[in-house]
Amino acid sequence: MTAVGIDAIEIHAGKLKLDLAETFAPAKNESPEKYTKGLGLAASSFPDTYEDIVTMGANAAHRLMERRGLTPQDIGRIDVATESSFDNSKPVSTYIAGCLEQVYDGDFHHANKGERKFACISGTQSLDDAYNWIRAGRNRGRSALVVATDTALYARGDAGEATQGAGAVAMLISENPRLLELSTEQGYGSADETDFLKPNQQFPSVDGKRSVQVYLARMREALEDFESVAGDTHPDDFVLGPFHTPFPGMVRKAALLAYRHMIRDTEIEERLADEVGRQPRPEAFDSDEEYVEAMGDYTDLLKETSDYQNWYDATIAPTLEISREVGNWYTGSVHIARASGLKHALEEGMDLTGERLLVGSYGSGAQAEIHAETLQDEWEEEIAALTIDEQIASRRDITYEEYEHVHDVHNHDKQADDVEEFTTPDAEFVFEGWGRMGERKYRYVE
Ligand code: CAA
Repeated sequence: MTAVGIDAIEIHAGKLKLDLAETFAPAKNESPEKYTKGLGLAASSFPDTYEDIVTMGANAAHRLMERRGLTPQDIGRIDVATESSFDNSKPVSTYIAGCLEQVYDGDFHHANKGERKFACISGTQSLDDAYNWIRAGRNRGRSALVVATDTALYARGDAGEATQGAGAVAMLISENPRLLELSTEQGYGSADETDFLKPNQQFPSVDGKRSVQVYLARMREALEDFESVAGDTHPDDFVLGPFHTPFPGMVRKAALLAYRHMIRDTEIEERLADEVGRQPRPEAFDSDEEYVEAMGDYTDLLKETSDYQNWYDATIAPTLEISREVGNWYTGSVHIARASGLKHALEEGMDLTGERLLVGSYGSGAQAEIHAETLQDEWEEEIAALTIDEQIASRRDITYEEYEHVHDVHNHDKQADDVEEFTTPDAEFVFEGWGRMGERKYRYVE
């Protein structure tokens, strides 16, 4: 069967930086360690006044097309995943295609366009749609462009304000991909939950503590469902485990539970038995409470073992390096986790061709999905082309007062037109105001 998967990837980070330890924590009268250690975040990337989900997505897609020498004729569908959309009818993909048509000869009239919504998991769902379209033989030799783009902003004063971020990831999905093949096997954990939602409002209503529990519960179901089709997972099967990363501390929790699950009934559990005992089994307890308590004690001990820590340092920690600097990008989050892990592997000179990743996506509301990916021959060239380190380093570091202003600029309910842009656009798409029907207008700045 011909391989189908991710052929190319490009990332665009919002151009402003809100330093959480230096700027945000003092303004909130909180300890910087809550952010750097507890949540695992150093900074949020923020959109400048002329940036939004369209400009960030179009800029990532444009760079991808330029680097790979593509024309509109090479793209048969454009799917945008976002939970920051500003229109209930006209999809963001039409705006992004309109931007790209400003800089290319030819157009995207032949391309099927849409917008995917299921909180943060819709980026991965868009990969699925592209995969299925190609597998069904409907692509006529063309590739799909998937763009995951969000301004992940919370209402001022909401606990989630600490985990904001803004950025876009563009991915090209093709036959015989250069970067990664997607597995046919997938697992789902999906339930009607009210942990995080935006009922016709820009900023989310969040039950933060519950959202953490729902993430863990749905991920567990998805892993078990994945194993029901792909067979049992083992820590040695996967070189990296990119998970949806609302903040790195969330993934620290999920990784420990995933490791505990994967080592059950394996030689690792046996080997660790002298040190931490064997995992409690429910049938050995009179009540659920006793079992849960015993499992909690075992998990605390497992976390301290060198087996677990070595696995975490090799497989999970590298996937959190970009997220730590940019915050939550919602639909793009798991895709920057993957890029982060691969960038680290490239820098370490690791030979990963043929190796596998275990990818865990999540969207509130709620659904988790797990699949595997296999690294292809040209993964190193693709990852070496990423410019995310330069983008992170060149962001404008804003003061708390500037943050308040720029948050207002992006608040749909506020009129804050008088705020000057903080950076100068250069060879990129910018937002330039509204048209007569309330549509947003964009322009390419040379
Ligand atoms: N030193 C070290 N650690 C510290 C500390 C200090 N001085 N102060 C606090 N901490 C630790 C806390 O112990 C806690 O860690 P643990 O959970 O491991 O105990 C961590 O820092 C955060 O502190 P709090 O729990 O007190 O933080 P909070 O209540 O203000 O907010 C949050 C945390 C609820 C997750 C909030 O950021 C939030 O609502 N975020 C948005 C929702 C979210 O991201 N949920 C994640 C799952 S849902 C999802 O994944 C979808 C999505 O993208 C939104």
